[in-house]
Amino acid sequence: MISASLGAHYSFRFVLLSIRLFWQTLIGSLLTNKPSTTASKQLENQLIKKFGGQVILTYKGRDAIQVALITHGFTKSSDVILTQAFACYAIEEGILRARAKPGYTDVGKGQLNLTVETLQQAYELYHQHPQQVRAVIVQHSLGHPAEITKIKDWCDKHQLVLIEDLAQSYGATALDGGSSSKPLGSLADTIVLSFGRDKVIDAVSGGAVIFRNSSLTPPTLDFPPTAMVLKDLTYPFFTWLIRATYSIGLGKIIHKSLTLLGLMNNPTQSPTTQATTLPNSLAQLALLQLKNLDQTRFHRQKIAIFYLKNLTNIPLHPLTRAETLDHASLLRWAATTDHPKKLLHFLKRHQVHLTDRWYRSPVDCGKLNCATNYESKSCPQAEQLADTIINLPTHPKITIAQAQKITNLIKKYFKK
Ligand SMILES: Cc1ncc(COP(=O)(O)O)c(C=O)c1O
Repeated sequence: MISASLGAHYSFRFVLLSIRLFWQTLIGSLLTNKPSTTASKQLENQLIKKFGGQVILTYKGRDAIQVALITHGFTKSSDVILTQAFACYAIEEGILRARAKPGYTDVGKGQLNLTVETLQQAYELYHQHPQQVRAVIVQHSLGHPAEITKIKDWCDKHQLVLIEDLAQSYGATALDGGSSSKPLGSLADTIVLSFGRDKVIDAVSGGAVIFRNSSLTPPTLDFPPTAMVLKDLTYPFFTWLIRATYSIGLGKIIHKSLTLLGLMNNPTQSPTTQATTLPNSLAQLALLQLKNLDQTRFHRQKIAIFYLKNLTNIPLHPLTRAETLDHASLLRWAATTDHPKKLLHFLKRHQVHLTDRWYRSPVDCGKLNCATNYESKSCPQAEQLADTIINLPTHPKITIAQAQKITNLIKKYFKK
């Protein structure tokens, strides 16, 4: 089975660890109400070592955004947070939970990210009394670095807080910093991370805020309900089972049944409505992912190079370019084409499931009905990108033979 998501980041060891943690959490919750924090401390220390400052672990990436904004004091509807429209709804949810206002910024022409020019346009639109732009969230879409050095200078000029969201780009480096390529996050005032499904560090759920200025005082967070954590811990096993039985026709039935029973849900929908902290079990999963990060990045690069070399002379225009390969985390390989849905349905008929593309619309909410603040047509380049983008998988389960199958099918589709 070839799919962009559905437990694509879980090794067999990861699945076994999640099963063990499921039982430990279940039994532990019956015996004691004082949960262990050893893995959480270890994870915090690793993040402090990489970025400096003070770390708050959270149960979700959107919790991290909420905590970041509350701690900076951006809690009024007149506090505008600029963020790009080519994104998922979870970012808006974090901003709204802090009671601030999202100000939508377009992406650069033919780019995956906002630029200084699109930020300036949004700033002129939103920075009007009584509204004040307070901060910028930079997302580095699909692991492709935005022009962060220029953005940092622009934020400094306007005295805005720079929040880098490294959910999709942990481990990537700046493209525009000259010869000494700085890790993304090193120019930020505050960094937010998600360890949610299909992110660079995929621990099923989780997040973190890193305040590089340690004098700020973040709120103390409670733990999420144990039932939710237990459900998270079943996800690696369920996805492993679905993948293992897909070729004999069972996987699809198991997937549908688990979804109907509410045991697997859409990752855009958070089971919590306020920020909570990261349980130790999920921190343990995040640590295992961090351990394999260099190896995974090397693999992604190999697959991305393969797509770049093999997908030429067809009406598919790569957004993952040769010059980004050494910098990007390459969470997914991206390109644009007219009518991507037709191509993706053709691939699906050949057992290649890539319809879960980032993003199908500005402020994408999947099949859920989210009441977004995004105003239709306000960011035309983001809309054009969402209408034309496809993502190809680079995750650890994709082999060169599978990448070959994908490229052959794409070429066949365009030959028709
Ligand atoms: C860039 C980015 N930041 C934050 C989030 C929110 O993550 P979570 O689902 O863990 O709340 C997402 C989720 O898709 C994301 O893509």
